[in-house]
Amino acid sequence: MNAPVKVRTETHSEDHSFAQDVRTGLSQHPKRLPPKYFYDAAGSKLFEQITLLPEYYPTRTELRILRDHGAEIAATIPPNAALIEFGAGGTTKARLLMRQSTLAAYVPVDISGDFLNEQAEALRRDFPGLAVYPVTADFTAPFALPPEVRDMPKAGFFPGSTIGNFDPHEASAFLRGARDLLGEGATLIVGVDLEKDERVLSAAYNDAAGVTARFNLNVLVRINRELGGNFDLSGFRHRAIYNRERHRIEMHLISRKAQTVRVLGRAFSFRAGETIHTESSYKYSLARFTALAQGAGWQPRARWTDADGMFSVHALEADDDA
Ligand code: AVJ
Repeated sequence: MNAPVKVRTETHSEDHSFAQDVRTGLSQHPKRLPPKYFYDAAGSKLFEQITLLPEYYPTRTELRILRDHGAEIAATIPPNAALIEFGAGGTTKARLLMRQSTLAAYVPVDISGDFLNEQAEALRRDFPGLAVYPVTADFTAPFALPPEVRDMPKAGFFPGSTIGNFDPHEASAFLRGARDLLGEGATLIVGVDLEKDERVLSAAYNDAAGVTARFNLNVLVRINRELGGNFDLSGFRHRAIYNRERHRIEMHLISRKAQTVRVLGRAFSFRAGETIHTESSYKYSLARFTALAQGAGWQPRARWTDADGMFSVHALEADDDA
């Protein structure tokens, strides 16, 4: 049985949170915007292009790990489990697990409902025995699982180093929330990008073709369209820098000149060189990620890396209820 198709409607609360987050973020010093707003239709397409760039190693490296160790990774998932994927942008990675395990259900959770429902249709065709229950939700906030999977064993799947977008305390809160949602006995499979040579990181986020720059600037396009902004895109340039002390790549939009921009009927002024911090992408060591997970209710069960130690996939097991 399939869940009824949910069509995403722009509710007032969603509009409100984008507006609210932009208003708050542009009023802060330094100015900042949450990375989750990159992913409108245009932004999702640009991100897909990023994953194909020669400099952007994470996606292809993680896929390689999932392909090379698929059977072992799938073996950490309990039989007849429900696989809950946090932020299911595409289903390529989940399909690798589906082919090697005996999943009863797949629950992709994403804010983009239309995309989700398209993917769900295709999955139902390709895996007739699999129940697919898409959930349109922001997984950074609490949400409920579909009642159909409540009594199934559970495995969470959080690939792509999306966890790297969270500050460490947010990552810990996410892991703790996932532990509470998935429950005792659950598995969590997480893709985590690793610390490495700064030049490799910098190239991955400052690609020669300028796709990451367009991805970053697209958030201003979205503000112009959805929030009545008047950002002049030529007045800002993209730059990604590695912050070594905080183990993170930071993406910025730097104002090329002193200027005033109107958004939501309010004026925001920029000094020449002033930046909007649009994303942090944290990089972990294996030990630091394991410690973070252990502090948030998960025990390490197994982990895999590529031969060059660029990227890691962790299988974690939920702590018993205290
Ligand atoms: C989707 C958050 C994993 O941090 O590498 C890619 C997003 N930003 N290039 C990342 C991103 C710029 C990506 N994550």
